[in-house]
Amino acid sequence: MTIYPIKSICCIGAGYVGGPTMAVIADRCPHIEVTVVDLNEERIAAWNDSDLNQLPVYEPGLDDVVARARGRNLYFSTAVDESIASADMVFISVNTPTKKKGVGAGQASDLRWVEACARQVAQWAKGHTVVVEKSTLPVRTAAAIKAILDTAKSKSDNAEPLSTFSVLSNPEFLAEGTAIRDLEQPDRVLIGGNDKDAIEALATIYSHWVPNRKILRTKLWSSELSKLTANAFLAQRISSINSVAALCEATGADVREVALAIGTDSRIGPKFLDAGPGFGGSCFQKDILNLVYLSRHFGLSEVASYWEQVVELNNWQQNRISALLVQRLFGTVTGKRLAILGFAFKANTNDTRESPAIRISLDLLEEGAQLAIHDPKVASTQIALALGKAPSSSSSEIKGEGSWCFATTVAEALQGADAVLILTEWDEYLTLDWSSLAGLMRAPAWVFDTRSVVNPVEISEAGLIMWRLGEGSD
Ligand code: UDX
Ligand code: ADP
Repeated sequence: MTIYPIKSICCIGAGYVGGPTMAVIADRCPHIEVTVVDLNEERIAAWNDSDLNQLPVYEPGLDDVVARARGRNLYFSTAVDESIASADMVFISVNTPTKKKGVGAGQASDLRWVEACARQVAQWAKGHTVVVEKSTLPVRTAAAIKAILDTAKSKSDNAEPLSTFSVLSNPEFLAEGTAIRDLEQPDRVLIGGNDKDAIEALATIYSHWVPNRKILRTKLWSSELSKLTANAFLAQRISSINSVAALCEATGADVREVALAIGTDSRIGPKFLDAGPGFGGSCFQKDILNLVYLSRHFGLSEVASYWEQVVELNNWQQNRISALLVQRLFGTVTGKRLAILGFAFKANTNDTRESPAIRISLDLLEEGAQLAIHDPKVASTQIALALGKAPSSSSSEIKGEGSWCFATTVAEALQGADAVLILTEWDEYLTLDWSSLAGLMRAPAWVFDTRSVVNPVEISEAGLIMWRLGEGSD
């Protein structure tokens, strides 16, 4: 029995992390009232939409979980202050992008949203509140949050008891596209903190569906650093295999065979060895840059340079794909139509943050190409935001050099194209009928596959020329 019984939770931030995480907690703990709040009214309205296809986050299985819990003990609201005031536990799950200017620009996380949340919690919380950092944060952020929360003591007048706080770090390890499975069957749950009772209060919530041996209790700083390190290790594997892919292309080896061969060593393991156009998503780059910033801050310049190289290789990988495509298309793509298949940073998500498709598309637009972009889940408006450029009005006729259009079908994208570049491993790209699609393209037509989704035999039988990432010729 914990001395902090949790009957109501407020989660600040209804994004990719806050939304699915709270939906699963509410689903598994029907006795706890869970309210997810956000300043963004449109986002909250979408979470409350009766049409579950309109949820702001696309995650397989999320609609079922929301359908079970919403209105029962799961609520989405813009009433941030009221929700904080009535909560026993507050999760901070707001965005922490890399700083764009000032000290640490380009590396440190911008904590302005976290700080704003902490101030709101300090102002509105009542009694004892357990504050849980869920957003990915640089090490020692909890101390900053605690310092802000402690100012709440001075706001209290004699009529009201003082508000008190415990701060925990409970980093999220879910991956987009598999969030619900990752939340329902996590490899581990990590809780860092100094207050044992608060740790047990949070552990009790998870214990409703996670075995106790998988709930790790650590020091605050260990928990914060583990999140950064886990992502850095995963990203490092991807840069490693991408570096090997380039070597395979140069030497005539095949990266798929090399990955299989090294992955069967149980010390290395088979996961996260898929070469591709480079890692994207909101976490990997941001977290590594945070590690780099921290290392420099503590005078560990070799450590900083070591991790920095993982990001540099990732940037290089993206640039090399666009450069290589231009080179294969006789050195110029000016005025040529290129079909881009996939804009999300990985399959099964509508998220495009740091997607390799952004940099690669921008490079090709800069070269004067006309891009017809298709993605089963990413909307045209989102692509326009990511590229900083509105689309041409019609997909059949892209106007001008360096312009793009949104294609609603793969066939529409390929119509009249000189090449197709596959950037996301969506299932529907695995089963395309190349024998009929080939006729839509302008010969000699190319297929550039960065995700190993197409069958090279089908491509060559369809009369198309194939380039596959990580495949060298004999
Ligand atoms: C990641 C971590 O996996 C997760 O634990 C953490 O909580 C958040 O960051 P996410 O960014 O959602 O999750 O996706 P992930 O599956 O890790 O993929 C990240 C990027 O790496 C994607 O662009 C993906 O395409 C790429 N990737 C992944 C590869 O290129 N090859 C691989 O073998 C695996
Ligand atoms: P993540 O991937 O970490 O979940 P998102 O950007 O998808 O990040 O979501 C973060 C959410 O946090 C956004 O919807 C944003 O509007 C919300 N947010 C940021 N600051 C505040 C705040 N002070 N109060 C309420 N919501 C906030």
